[in-house]
Amino acid sequence: MYWVNGREAETISLHDRSFQYGDGCFTTMLVKGGQVQYWGLHKERMQSCLGLLGVSPPNWSQVEDWVRDASTGKAEAGIKLHISRGEGGRGYSPNKVKGPNVTISVFDFPAHYASWMTEGVQLGICSKRLGHNPMLAGHKHNNRLEQVLLKSEMDDKGLSDGIVLDIKDNVIETTMANIFWINQGVVYTPDLTNAGVKGVMQRVIIDSAAKNDIEVRVGNYSLKELYAAEEVFMSNSLLRVAPVKAIGQRNYAKGPITKNIQEMINQW
Ligand SMILES: Cc1ncc(COP(=O)(O)O)c(C=O)c1O
Repeated sequence: MYWVNGREAETISLHDRSFQYGDGCFTTMLVKGGQVQYWGLHKERMQSCLGLLGVSPPNWSQVEDWVRDASTGKAEAGIKLHISRGEGGRGYSPNKVKGPNVTISVFDFPAHYASWMTEGVQLGICSKRLGHNPMLAGHKHNNRLEQVLLKSEMDDKGLSDGIVLDIKDNVIETTMANIFWINQGVVYTPDLTNAGVKGVMQRVIIDSAAKNDIEVRVGNYSLKELYAAEEVFMSNSLLRVAPVKAIGQRNYAKGPITKNIQEMINQW
């Protein structure tokens, strides 16, 4: 089900700049027991992206009401909030745009995520690489062509997901989630200054680990360092924490730190 600016709708104008240029941002949130998880953090990430793009902010209290209405009565579901700069402008120029346009959609919680969270996920390694884009890196903007290409590479190989590297051979994330691994009690996750999406769940995990005296290091790491890990897990807002059981031919057990972090996160 879709809503455009608070009204039930199935279509959007051809002049909408998100359709024309990917001019906007989005976020995908978990609904549990009728409540949106981490609304404040999702809103903060969207505000930061809209600020970077110079998009006029929507009326946030109205957006919050629309999100709440869409989530009411849902035991477990996903909700996607999409904000486009709006309609118009001349070519790329964003001057004189009417906007923004706020689109909300609700969808069923993906059935296979339950087994991914308990049994773990088998990952491939994408041969296509993420470019460096420090201007937009970290933001969940509406242009996701790299992810479309990476995901289709994994689809062609019959794999659900894969590790994504950048053009400098740094491990960045998977096609749809952030990546973490553990070595000798320390949790590692890639720095996303030049590529990747700074996940809301990545932030929640880093903050929860710090509160529980688990050391987290954020930096530039190679595939070799990831391969040497004792435990690996991935995260996004719907999946929360899912153990990685294999990367290519290497197998990983669901270890104690992954279990601990998963329990901490699932307490919400
Ligand atoms: C490419 C990519 N990286 C990371 C994430 C994790 O983001 P979040 O934790 O905000 O869901 C996502 C989520 O869809 C993603 O598509």
